[in-house]
Amino acid sequence: MTTTVQSIYYNQAPETLQREIAIMLHQVWPDACPMPGAKILEAHDKELNARSFYSYIDGKLVSYAGVVHKTIKHNGQTFNIGGLSSVATDPEYHGQGLGLRIVAAATQWIEKQRDIDFGIFTCNPSLTSFYTRAGAWPVVTDVVLIGSRDEDALSSESLDVVVLMRLFSEKAKAYESILRHTTINLDFPVGQFL
Ligand SMILES: CC(C)(COP(=O)(O)OP(=O)(O)OC[C@H]1O[C@@H](n2cnc3c(N)ncnc32)[C@H](O)[C@@H]1OP(=O)(O)O)[C@@H](O)C(=O)NCCC(=O)NCCS
Repeated sequence: MTTTVQSIYYNQAPETLQREIAIMLHQVWPDACPMPGAKILEAHDKELNARSFYSYIDGKLVSYAGVVHKTIKHNGQTFNIGGLSSVATDPEYHGQGLGLRIVAAATQWIEKQRDIDFGIFTCNPSLTSFYTRAGAWPVVTDVVLIGSRDEDALSSESLDVVVLMRLFSEKAKAYESILRHTTINLDFPVGQFL
């Protein structure tokens, strides 16, 4: 079976597609992604200008990954970052390679974006090999990712997750020394994370 990975900017996706995404994410994370009612609950904040990757089987949206954008300041430098977000496969369709294909497509898309300096996100340690296989994402044990400096902000340390990071642009590569052995602040509102 082959499924095509489709892609669109989330903010430009038709309501029907946004609803399909919300329904699938709700199945995977019932607490974090409430069931969409009359009003569609957004999978991604508008300002993060997410790119959506998704695939269908028999007319059903079964696998999803988002790439969100954020501009951050780190050690006086400005970086545009891309982060994988809301990576999920419908539980009934696990183990068919859908997740690998979605993350591979999202990663290839990030690689082609000239304006993304580096990619960064977190995952459960058990998924490390999944992301290595899907997009050559390495775990960076010397980087701590924090949602913000707020005392209630989420962080890779408090969540017990690993940080995955790839440097893409010449600028990011030139500044590798300040992007390693460090804490990277996403400057998100409290509760938001990657
Ligand atoms: C992670 C997830 C998206 C993988 O989706 P999937 O379509 O089942 O993935 P694939 O079929 O492409 O799996 C590829 C490989 O990853 C492994 N893998 C998949 N999910 C895994 C998990 N939760 N833990 C450990 N390994 C996992 C599979 O065993 C498989 O390896 P194999 O080919 O050697 O058997 C899916 O398990 C999921 O939706 N999980 C819940 C949400 C989640 O945790 N998302 C990640 C947030 S960072």
